Amino acid sequence: MTPKDVLQSLAGFKTEDGLQPLKLGYIQDVAVEPHADGMRVNIHVDDAWQGKPVTDSQRAGLAAFIKGQYSEVAEARVIPRSKEQAEQARKIAKPGQAPPRTPAGVKMIAVISGKGGVGKSTVSINLARALAQLGYRTGILDCDIYGFSVPDLLQLTDPVETQEGRFIPPRVQGIDVMSMKFFVGHNAPVMWRGPMLGKAIRQMMEDTVWHNPEYLVLDLPPGTGDIAMDVHQYFPRAAAILVTTPDRNAARVAERAGQMARSMDRSLLGVVENMAFMNCPECGSEWYPLGRGGADIVSQNLAIPVLAKVPWVVSGDTGVSGLVPEDNPAETAYRRLAETVAATDLVPTGPISLQQS
Ligand SMILES: Nc1ncnc2c1ncn2[C@@H]1O[C@H](COP(=O)(O)OP(=O)(O)O)[C@@H](O)[C@H]1O
Ligand SMILES: [Mg+2]
Repeated sequence: MTPKDVLQSLAGFKTEDGLQPLKLGYIQDVAVEPHADGMRVNIHVDDAWQGKPVTDSQRAGLAAFIKGQYSEVAEARVIPRSKEQAEQARKIAKPGQAPPRTPAGVKMIAVISGKGGVGKSTVSINLARALAQLGYRTGILDCDIYGFSVPDLLQLTDPVETQEGRFIPPRVQGIDVMSMKFFVGHNAPVMWRGPMLGKAIRQMMEDTVWHNPEYLVLDLPPGTGDIAMDVHQYFPRAAAILVTTPDRNAARVAERAGQMARSMDRSLLGVVENMAFMNCPECGSEWYPLGRGGADIVSQNLAIPVLAKVPWVVSGDTGVSGLVPEDNPAETAYRRLAETVAATDLVPTGPISLQQS
């Protein structure tokens, strides 16, 4: 269920005294969040209905209606708010209103996960490289605001260069790289919420001299909390790839992240299982240090395909770079993943051009 679904179903709601709040324009916004026990729906409504303060029974009636419509709703909250407060909140939630302008015609792939440490950034950079190797101009945008690691994984240490106030993205194997790290320096304790966060993301996207990318891979923050949702909002056109490890625990949280992405109208391309298996260095047979089946569970529960199962890359193979070495079995997995992405009909962004040749 998406906020849009909820809004549509509200067309069928009338209060006991026959008011239709949707028709009367009293519904300000709807948010749907997955929680452990089910979905939580938050509805902001005008604080005055027909010139009188909205009553508890009107609110309770609306909440009960939503719960009656959707069995998966654990809680529905109806929160009154003045029109001025609503306007204020909109300004804070969406600094500069519209999502950042993107290079024209770029297809965006958001790599997401339920928790950190599952290999989201590793998958992001290796997918970007595999797309570049298929011949696509590719960029990677590291939006993981607290866990930015793309520069480290690519062994980029120099500060980013600027030219006439714009950023020149470092290029690694033909991939343009831009990262939150370039903005916050080392471990800068900045509260990246609301307007500040939006500003940094907008700058990364709009003030970078991208080389006409056909694909932009976005390494998003993990999880289902406010921060992940905030960052998601800036990329309404991105299609998402979920990353999980094979264990059930990771799969469960990955599933919730997938539900959250869906609740924000994101299309889910599928799930990647990272650290899926290891080849025994002695006998060559496969073994499963983290267990098996995580991606299959996610795939079943969200009805999305398993896009790849990436094996462990045994330490020492990679040096310190997060890019897998050539001829490693993981490289084959990434190549197939990139081929699947390339074969998928993704919606490129609109005509606004920020192209540089
Ligand atoms: N397939 C793999 N084999 C071995 N190590 C891996 C693999 N994928 C990721 N790692 C390592 O696991 C750690 C976490 O990966 P990372 O991509 O940073 O995760 P996330 O972005 O989800 O927090 C890193 O040290 C990375 O090098
Ligand atoms: Mg990461």
